[in-house]
Amino acid sequence: MSAEFPVARPRRLRRTPAMRTLVAGTHLHPSQLILPVFVKEGLTEPNPVASMPGVVQHTRDSLLKAAHDAAEAGVGGLILFGIPAVKDARGSAGDDPDGILQKALREVSAEVGDALVVIADTCLDEFTDHGHCGLLTPDGEVDNDATLQRYADIAVAQARAGAQMVAPSGMMDGQVAAIRSGLDGAGFADIPIMSYSVKYASAFYGPFRDAAECAPQFGDRASHQQDPAGTAGEALREMRLDLAEGADLVMVKPALAYLDIIAAIRAEAEVPVAAYQVSGEYAMIEAAAANGWIDRERMIMESLVGIRRAGADLILTYWASEVARRL
Ligand code: PBG
Repeated sequence: MSAEFPVARPRRLRRTPAMRTLVAGTHLHPSQLILPVFVKEGLTEPNPVASMPGVVQHTRDSLLKAAHDAAEAGVGGLILFGIPAVKDARGSAGDDPDGILQKALREVSAEVGDALVVIADTCLDEFTDHGHCGLLTPDGEVDNDATLQRYADIAVAQARAGAQMVAPSGMMDGQVAAIRSGLDGAGFADIPIMSYSVKYASAFYGPFRDAAECAPQFGDRASHQQDPAGTAGEALREMRLDLAEGADLVMVKPALAYLDIIAAIRAEAEVPVAAYQVSGEYAMIEAAAANGWIDRERMIMESLVGIRRAGADLILTYWASEVARRL
């Protein structure tokens, strides 16, 4: 028989679901997902976050229920954010042993700490009355060096409360080293640090600031978070500095608009790479779905597969429990 056209037929491997599954190159597993959760002091009922349909500010009770749900679904980790009743300039609630986040860490770790990894977000913006991620100078600038000791104290308070991992998100230079030495000095040499190493000054955090009640009261975070137009080299440098300071995992945030950065980081990192599918990424899909404009479930799965394919080993996503159940 004479040669036919076309000779190559890539469609052969796409014909049936079983065939496609057999040759899939990217796999999502529940254990690769981390669920971010918010707990607010003094709440009596869970409080829905308007800009994040399906996400709530938890009471301590509803948080425990969400933690059990996540554990049952096989989710790999939970990352906790606390919203205190009272905020001040130095974010005192952040390292108060009786602060809301510490109470929640204690309870969640006791309940589900064997089934998944309980992670604390280590930052000041939820705890400060001005909403910035650090202490301020008299001129209202975020004071990098003065903030480092606060982060170390917060991380130690979190570890004492039962955090099994801490995740500094404030983008202060030297924060990983400061936290590492604080933890080591307090007897927590075994607690790993997942650093938000590569974090952009992003509009995609908008809904989170409602959820965590941490919008800066003036100015923005552009003086410490990375410029979205910055080079991949800048991202690699942030990663290398954090690894040299002792980070055990590195994170890229946001995810969807930074897939190239995730790929670049994955290619260089010798540690697990996490990516944070942030609040604005969640809100976009939920809003379009609520309007009936998109296929919600397919879009969620496709976005997560894309983030994995770019190179993320772990994904922080508000859909973690739902997706884990579906997998
Ligand atoms: C800071 C922090 C932020 C997010 C996680 N940790 C907000 C910010 O940097 O302004 C955003 C997460 C999201 O948008 O889902 N503690």
